[in-house]
Amino acid sequence: MQICYIINMIRFLAAIDEKRGLAKGEKLPWSIPSDVSRYQELMKTKGANILVGRKTYEQMTSVLDGLNVFIATRSYNPTSKVIIVENVKDFLRGYDLNKDIWVIGGAKVFEEALEFADELWLTEIEGDYDCDVFFPEYKDTFVLSAELENQEEDGYKFHYRNYVSVK
Ligand SMILES: NC(=O)c1ccc[n+]([C@@H]2O[C@H](COP(=O)([O-])OP(=O)(O)OC[C@H]3O[C@@H](n4cnc5c(N)ncnc54)[C@H](OP(=O)(O)O)[C@@H]3O)[C@@H](O)[C@H]2O)c1
Repeated sequence: MQICYIINMIRFLAAIDEKRGLAKGEKLPWSIPSDVSRYQELMKTKGANILVGRKTYEQMTSVLDGLNVFIATRSYNPTSKVIIVENVKDFLRGYDLNKDIWVIGGAKVFEEALEFADELWLTEIEGDYDCDVFFPEYKDTFVLSAELENQEEDGYKFHYRNYVSVK
């Protein structure tokens, strides 16, 4: 008899500044086209399921076209074909779909979901962009597992770093 193990990874995908800032005034305070392209490619090739907070979803619906989208919301009535998640923790605790899932923010959803994350795929941007929403503290419970060479584009210096959970 063959035993088949199915491991569904819960991965985070985010870009943060050196203070863990995610956005300012509901916008990204940086503009790095290659990071946006990488972001879109990763979601399409590595993942199929996406978990996103309602506020972030409203900012990026077209980017998510064609993906299997789960929206965290307690109040939203979507018009497009998405699946509603009313409780992020319960959803991830019971997550047993036969696919990996990318958690793509925003701040509230990252915070709620962090304890369930297996990997963090972060773009770490040098500098402080005076953000008003933040990625949760992660260096106590995650360790660096992979890092690409230093990146630079349009004056931005940044680093692609992956972390794995040590929980
Ligand atoms: N730098 C990056 O990589 C990155 C990535 C993503 C987002 N962002 C930025 O992050 C900002 C948005 O973050 P945010 O924290 O304000 O909003 P968010 O996390 O995108 O969405 C928050 C909403 O999600 C729902 N929600 C939150 N926790 C929930 C839970 N436990 N169960 C069910 N639903 C839950 C609620 O929706 P309802 O109000 O509908 O109930 C809540 O208002 C934006 O400015 C965006 O640009 C940055």
